[in-house]
Amino acid sequence: MTKLFADLSGKVALVTGAASGLGKEIALAMARSGATVGVADLNLEGANSATQQIREHGGRALGVLMDVTSEGAVNAGVDDVVKEFGSLDILVSNAGIQIVSSIVDFAYADWRKMQAIHVDGAFLTTKAALRHMYKENRGEWSFIWAPCIRTLHRR
Ligand SMILES: NC(=O)c1ccc[n+]([C@@H]2O[C@H](COP(=O)([O-])OP(=O)(O)OC[C@H]3O[C@@H](n4cnc5c(N)ncnc54)[C@H](O)[C@@H]3O)[C@@H](O)[C@H]2O)c1
Repeated sequence: MTKLFADLSGKVALVTGAASGLGKEIALAMARSGATVGVADLNLEGANSATQQIREHGGRALGVLMDVTSEGAVNAGVDDVVKEFGSLDILVSNAGIQIVSSIVDFAYADWRKMQAIHVDGAFLTTKAALRHMYKENRGEWSFIWAPCIRTLHRR
């Protein structure tokens, strides 16, 4: 199978929103390239299923329950990954939702919800990951912020 990533042997990655869709595919592709993967999502059952898939192919992974809008949950989830695997080198902040609506009909509450997941989630996961990365000082880190807001269209 084609590898999306370079050799990631020895690297530990955390992927959020990894129970399904793009996040799951990124987690599986990173594992195929040798990374150990923290598979984080609101949907723990889905995260555990992706984890199982990685393990069945000989990879190392941990399913993590994480709501990226909760600072406590993000810190705890990142701590769990580092405790299990000893380090963190790569963060893929992918968790997101899509609400398609014309702006005039777009509920402000939905806008705030999307901002919380996409923007606050990227901030909180980056902050939590950097706490460990700075401490470990392994010198080479990667960040990917995946979701884009694609909600404006004409009626
Ligand atoms: N699929 C596409 O073609 C596409 C294109 C452009 C942008 N995007 C964006 O990329 C993101 C992922 O898209 P997808 O198609 O994989 O969606 P998806 O719904 O299949 O996956 C999103 C995952 O994020 C998780 N999630 C949602 N809120 C969360 C939270 N608060 N904390 C933790 N996990 C949470 C969900 O449980 C789900 O597993 C979305 O933001 C989407 O808008 C997708």
